[in-house]
Amino acid sequence: MILVLLGPPGSGKGTQAKKLVTERGWPQLSTGDMLRTAIGKGTALGLEAKSYMDRGALVPDSVVIGLIGERTSQPDCRSGFILDGFPRTIPQAEALDQMLLGRGGQVEKAVLFEIDDSELVSRLSGRRTCTKCGAMYHIQSAPPKKAGICDSCGSSLIQRDDDQVDVIAKRLVVYHQQTAPLAEFYRKQGKLTSLDASLPANDVSQALSRAISG
Ligand code: AP5
Repeated sequence: MILVLLGPPGSGKGTQAKKLVTERGWPQLSTGDMLRTAIGKGTALGLEAKSYMDRGALVPDSVVIGLIGERTSQPDCRSGFILDGFPRTIPQAEALDQMLLGRGGQVEKAVLFEIDDSELVSRLSGRRTCTKCGAMYHIQSAPPKKAGICDSCGSSLIQRDDDQVDVIAKRLVVYHQQTAPLAEFYRKQGKLTSLDASLPANDVSQALSRAISG
């Protein structure tokens, strides 16, 4: 299945995508993770992306479309994949449809994670991520056993640069202006299902399973 997870920053797309990887075996394609990897390696693409990400803006469409085009042609994507954070603009969604059409495929489902902005600031400002294995925590709702240390691999946890309160506010504005219209894009194609992303993670997971199976 080719599945698109849509929703504002902090709505839980990454958390749920990681669960699906374990449960269903589809790879998680997160453009945010790909861009952060490029930043970590200090590549030219990473340096360019960082200047946008640090201020909460979107990286240019051409850059992320190129990343996804390359990644989806890898052998592990043959039986499907989960798109987490892509597409984020109408031109990205159109480019994705064209790309998949050329390979005889299509997006099968798009699931919208619905949640009020008021809940997102505390989710994002409290998020901590493992520098090594990518496991995710929240200092209040899902804390590690030992502060600052990953339960899974023992590496350090960090706070993302764009999870500062002022940048979060900008990311939310960008989401409403540029990404929220994608719900209508997929609704018109008859592919959209919505879920209540304010519920506890296990409940969201069950709702997502129903959305995928339905
Ligand atoms: P990206 O990395 O994609 O960030 P995002 O979409 O802003 O999403 P997040 O990773 O912040 O949130 P999430 O929904 O995955 O929530 P999570 O599961 O982590 O993008 C970063 C930047 O890269 C963008 O701003 C842009 O600059 C650039 N970029 C990326 N893709 C791009 C594209 N296609 N085009 C252009 N630019 C692009 O959860 C958040 C927290 O909440 C965690 O602490 C978690 O533990 C907690 N949590 C999760 N679920 C629950 C729950 N049900 N209840 C309580 N807490 C929960």
